[in-house]
Amino acid sequence: MELNFKRHRRLRQSASMRSLVRETYLHHEDLIYPLFIVEGENKKNAVASMPGVYQVSLDLLPAEMDEIAALGIKSVILFGVPAEKDSTGTGAYHDHGIVQEATRIVKEHHPEMIVIADTCLCEYTDHGHCGVVEGAKVLNDPSLDLLAKTAVSQAKAGADIIAPSNMMDGFVAAIRKGLDDAGFEDVPIMSYAVKYSSAFYGPFRDAADSTPQFGDRRTYQMDPANRLEALREAQSDMDEGADFLIVKPALAYLDIMRDVKNEFNAPLVAYNVSGEYSMIKAAAQNGWIDEKAVVMEKLLGMKRAGADLIITYHAKDVAQWLNEK
Ligand code: PBG
Repeated sequence: MELNFKRHRRLRQSASMRSLVRETYLHHEDLIYPLFIVEGENKKNAVASMPGVYQVSLDLLPAEMDEIAALGIKSVILFGVPAEKDSTGTGAYHDHGIVQEATRIVKEHHPEMIVIADTCLCEYTDHGHCGVVEGAKVLNDPSLDLLAKTAVSQAKAGADIIAPSNMMDGFVAAIRKGLDDAGFEDVPIMSYAVKYSSAFYGPFRDAADSTPQFGDRRTYQMDPANRLEALREAQSDMDEGADFLIVKPALAYLDIMRDVKNEFNAPLVAYNVSGEYSMIKAAAQNGWIDEKAVVMEKLLGMKRAGADLIITYHAKDVAQWLNEK
């Protein structure tokens, strides 16, 4: 019998041959490191559900940034954990709010570092929802003004990129107009365009103290069952002027990432969320998996699915591993 088949193993026979045909790489430039900034002094609070992640106070931020920059990380995304909250999330758009102050500090010490400001209200509202609440309802249009105000105050503080995550309809249009009217037409918007209502955000809500006090986020975040809806969300954000598109979470949504990459010509960002991080940390601490190998494999998977950038709590470890190579 004469066999006729293709010898794929020819291209896998040695490390050099494999590297010659490798299609996807991870670089320092791909990484965006999330930081939780807390009020008070000399605070480095460990987040119990996210080993290796801390809430850091403003006075410790310069040292933290020195470490991040020395590792070769080029961009951070800032989340604020304010001391006080109220019904309309005033702290989010205060000119001396926690994220605004943190932005000034980072830009002062590391002007070349890209500062991305997460633009949402849930960390600042006493009810923990991402918009203005009336009864049990999260109101869309009244929330837009507050988001635009938040974005403008973040831009004023020096944020390089505005990243709205609250999933109100029209948030990109409202923020774009707000920024333009205030003279910030050069500040790009990285929209959490495709954000699912996900159980993988659990540990983040510990870190950011942003668990909704009633109900859930299913009237504004997306149903995990839907794929075509993701394309509609991305389309409207592109139409409204988004410069980057985020798909979030990442691991259970790699198909969506590829769809968005194929359909839209904009830099695509994967948000490798808290629950995805904590699962790996927990398994690694138990000695059940090889942490480095698993982390590199999953981030490579996101890039292969089309992500240009990855927001990840693993960023420091990954930067360190890349430096060791
Ligand atoms: C704020 C926001 C959330 C995350 C990022 N921005 C939480 C949420 O929507 O409940 C989650 C990030 C993560 O889990 O790592 N709206």
